[in-house]
Amino acid sequence: MEKLDNEIQRSFDTIKTMEQLETFRIHIIGKKGKLTTYFSALRDLDEVSKKSVAQKLNALKSTFETLYEEKKQILTTLELNAKLEQEYIDVSLFNTLHSRSFGHPITQVLDRIIDYFVNMSFSIQSGPLVEDDFHNFEALNLPKFHPARDMQDTFYFKDSFLLRTHTSPVQIRTMESHSLPIRVIAPGSVFRRDYDLTHSPMFHQVEGLVVDEAGKISFANLKFILEDFLRYIFGDVRVRFRASFFPFTEPSAEVDISCVFCDGAGCRVCSHTGWLEVLGCGVVHSNVFKAVGYENVSGYAFGLGVERFAMLLHRVNDLRSFFETDLRVLEQF
Ligand code: PHE
Repeated sequence: MEKLDNEIQRSFDTIKTMEQLETFRIHIIGKKGKLTTYFSALRDLDEVSKKSVAQKLNALKSTFETLYEEKKQILTTLELNAKLEQEYIDVSLFNTLHSRSFGHPITQVLDRIIDYFVNMSFSIQSGPLVEDDFHNFEALNLPKFHPARDMQDTFYFKDSFLLRTHTSPVQIRTMESHSLPIRVIAPGSVFRRDYDLTHSPMFHQVEGLVVDEAGKISFANLKFILEDFLRYIFGDVRVRFRASFFPFTEPSAEVDISCVFCDGAGCRVCSHTGWLEVLGCGVVHSNVFKAVGYENVSGYAFGLGVERFAMLLHRVNDLRSFFETDLRVLEQF
C-alpha cells in the first residue's frame, strides 16, 4: 500500500494529458485497477486486520480522488486554452466597412446639394448626355465660330452630336417643354477633353434655372439663394460675387467663397488670394429666351462643379482619386 501511495503521488506529477489521466485512473481504480484488487483482497483478511486495512485503503482512495480531481481541473483548463488558441475567429474577415455602403463621396456631396434646392422648392430635371449642337451651344448664345466655344474642349461625334460639355443644355430643354414659372436644378455628368489634378474628362455639374414673368426675378434673388446655399454647404464662409462673362447670362458673375483652408488669410490652395471660385451664374441672356421662343420673362441661372465642392469639403487635392475606384481612398468617406 505504501508503494502504491508513492506511485500515485509521483504519477500525477508526470501526467500531461487527459488521455494519460484516464489511463492512470483505470490503472488504479478501474475494474482491474491496483486499488480495486486491493479492495477485493480484503475479504481474505480476518475481521481485525480487515478493518484497519480498509481504513488505509479508503484513505488512499480519497487521496487518489482528490489528486485526480485537481489534475482533471488543471488539464481541462489547459486543453480549453489550447483549443481557444487554435480555433480563433478572424473577426477582420467580416470588416463592416466592406459590407456597408455609404455612397460614393461625389454622390454624398451631390445629395447634400440637391437637399438644399429641393427644400427651396426647386424640382429636378435631367437631359441627355449626348447632345446636339443647338442645345449645348447655339441656343445658349454660342453661335458657330463664337470664340467662347474654345473655353470648352468638346468631344464630338459625327453630324454635330457631342458629349455635353455642361448641364446648361438642360436649361434649354426645360424651357422648351415647360411653362412658367420654372424653378429647377439639373444635376448630371458632363464631359470635356481635360485631364490633370483638377480636371477629369467626365465630371458632374448642377445647373440651376429660375424663370418667371418679366420683372419678377432679379439678380438680387440669385444673390440671396447662392449665398444661403454656399453657407449651407461650406458653413461660416464669406461669399463674393465677381463680375465675369458667360455667353448665356448678362450680367454674369463668378462666385467666390473665403478660402476654407486658411479662412481668407491666403495659402497655396487659394493661390494666396484668400478666395476660392466655386460657381458661375448670371441673369439669363435675352438671346437664350429668344432661342426657346420666350417673351416678357426674366430669370437667373447658375452652374457648379460637384467634384470641386467635394475636393474643398474633403480636402482632396487630386480630383482623379474620386474615379480611380481605389478602396483605400473611397473607404475614408
Ligand atoms: N455652364 C457654365 C460652365 O460650365 C456654368 C454656368 C451655368 C454659368 C449657368 C452661368 C450660368 O462653366
